[in-house]
Amino acid sequence: MERRLKISSGERLLDRALDEGIALEQECGGKLACASCRVVVLQGMHHLVAASEDEVDMLERAGASAPNARLACQVRGTGDIVIEIPDAELPPACAASSPVRVTPRAARHLAAQLNKHAGAVAVRLAVERSGCSGFSYRIDPAGAIGDGDAVFESHGVRIAVDAASLPYVQGTLLDLVREGLAHRLQIDNPNVRESCGCGKSFSARSS
Ligand code: FES
Repeated sequence: MERRLKISSGERLLDRALDEGIALEQECGGKLACASCRVVVLQGMHHLVAASEDEVDMLERAGASAPNARLACQVRGTGDIVIEIPDAELPPACAASSPVRVTPRAARHLAAQLNKHAGAVAVRLAVERSGCSGFSYRIDPAGAIGDGDAVFESHGVRIAVDAASLPYVQGTLLDLVREGLAHRLQIDNPNVRESCGCGKSFSARSS
């Protein structure tokens, strides 16, 4: 569905859309925690403030790949725009053929790690049977791409996944989060059914 809107000075796109009777979802109440308010800006992108890194990250987590995708609760601007509400455009986060992706900050971290390993050509993401819930992850520098590997490219980083691991990690998003003074990779895997109390292993459905 396409709609033309006139945004008043500094007004939030979500508020303008709701005022015009457009029933945009807003599951988190505009707290940048759900991506349910996503739209695609077809015209007038230059009237809008640029997306923050956090907004870009949330769009990526939601698999919103359209080039002008925005979160209406985060968009302010002034002027005429045309938006599309992409009801069915987005695949579910756990779609069977979903790629493995990284956020921009995780990509910077992983690229820096790869630079420390001479000959590394990709990041290898694998699962192995261990731990109290069945599987655990391995993330290592890969010196070569194997015959059966699936290779994903995300924000300039290549991620190699072997054929046995792939069904358990499709659709996974790697992010970098701060914990105290340190950072760690956070693995958002839509295939996980449950993880154990220690947080190091998980059980999964394979897609
Ligand atoms: S309403 Fe949740 S991110 Fe916009």
